[in-house]
Amino acid sequence: MTNTINFKQSKSKIRNMRKLPETMNLDDMRSMVSHFPDMLRNPTPDPDIIGICRDYHRDGIEGLCFLGMGGSLIVGSYVKEILSQESHIPIDIVKTYFLPKWVSKDWIVVAISYSGNTEETLTSLGHAKERGSRILTITSGGQMAKEYSRYPQVIVDKGAQPRAAFPVLLSEVLPISESLIGVKITNLVKVSENLISASKTWGESISKPSVIAQKIHNRIPLFIGAQHMSPVAYRAKCQINENSKAEAFYSEIPEATHNEIEGFPYNEKGSIIPVFLRCFGEDSQISRRMDITFNLYKEIGLNPIDLNSIGESKIDSMLSLTHYLDMVSVELADKRGVNAVSVTRIGELKKRLAFKG
Ligand code: F6R
Repeated sequence: MTNTINFKQSKSKIRNMRKLPETMNLDDMRSMVSHFPDMLRNPTPDPDIIGICRDYHRDGIEGLCFLGMGGSLIVGSYVKEILSQESHIPIDIVKTYFLPKWVSKDWIVVAISYSGNTEETLTSLGHAKERGSRILTITSGGQMAKEYSRYPQVIVDKGAQPRAAFPVLLSEVLPISESLIGVKITNLVKVSENLISASKTWGESISKPSVIAQKIHNRIPLFIGAQHMSPVAYRAKCQINENSKAEAFYSEIPEATHNEIEGFPYNEKGSIIPVFLRCFGEDSQISRRMDITFNLYKEIGLNPIDLNSIGESKIDSMLSLTHYLDMVSVELADKRGVNAVSVTRIGELKKRLAFKG
C-alpha cells in the first residue's frame, strides 16, 4: 500500500550529519558526560528542516506526538515540559508499539531513535505512516534512516550510547518542536554556556557529584520531582540503572504523597534514600508539599537528600541538574567498579528479540 506523504517534496531534505564533539571519548562515559554542554551547542538549526516545520505550523497541526524508547525518548519528555506552558496543541509521548487513536493525519509525529532500529519505535512509526500523519525522524541510521529517508529527517553522528547523546538529540528536537508549535527558538548556545558556569560551582552551590554518589552507594535512590523536574527525576533513575548498574526509582509530587508516602517502614531502616529535586521558582503549593514530605521522611529516619538545580529558567534548571546527576551516575559506577558505558542486558534482549526463529 502506498502511503500519503504530507510534506512538500521539494523541501524534503536529509540533514547531513550532526557531528559529535571530536574530543569526546565514546568509550568513556565520564568524557561523554563532561561534553554535555558542548553537545548541546547547535547554533543554527537546519534552515530546511525548520522551514518545513514552520510550513506545517502554518498549515495547521492538531497535536504533536513523540515516539521512541529509553535514552532517545526522554528527550520528548523534556521538550513536552519545556513547552507545556506555551503550546496550544497537545503534546503526547508514546513509548510502546501502539499509537493512540487520537494521533490522526492532522498530527505531527516526531520519531526519535538513536540507533534507528528500536522495534517499538519502528512499529508505532509504521502506524503513523499508515494513518498519513506528517512524520519527522531523528536518528543516526539503521532501518529508520533507510525507510523514512523520503520524510524530513535529521541524521546525527553514530557511535555514542543513546543516553549519552541526549544533549545532541535535544538540540535538534527542541528547535524542531518550537517551530512546529510556533514559538521563539531557545538560544541553546546560551544554555550551554550557563551549564558550563553551573558545573564550575559543583562543590560550592551543590555538593560534589562524588559526595552524592557516596551517599546513595549501597542504598536505593528514589528520585522525586515535580512539574518540569519530573523528567529529570526519571532520567536520573535511568542513568543510575544504565550507567551505575544499580537499582533506582523515581516518583512525582504531588501524586507520591497520596500513596508512596505510606510505603516506607515505620520503625525500621529501609534501603531507599529519597532524593528531592528542587528548583528556583517552584510553584508555592508544590514547594509546601515538597517541604512537608521531606520533613516527614526525615522524621521516619530515611535521611532524604535535597538537591537544588542551578539556574533560573525552566530549561537551565532542568539541564543543570540533569548534567549533575549524569555525573553522579558515573561516580557511582566507579565506586561500584562497573563499566558505565556497556549495557549488555539491553543488548542481549534486543538480540533475542531480533532472533525470530
Ligand atoms: C542505551 C539507552 C537505551 C536506548 C533504548 C532505545 O544507551 O539509553 O535506553 O535508548 O534501548 O534505543 P534507541 O535509543 O537506539 O532507539
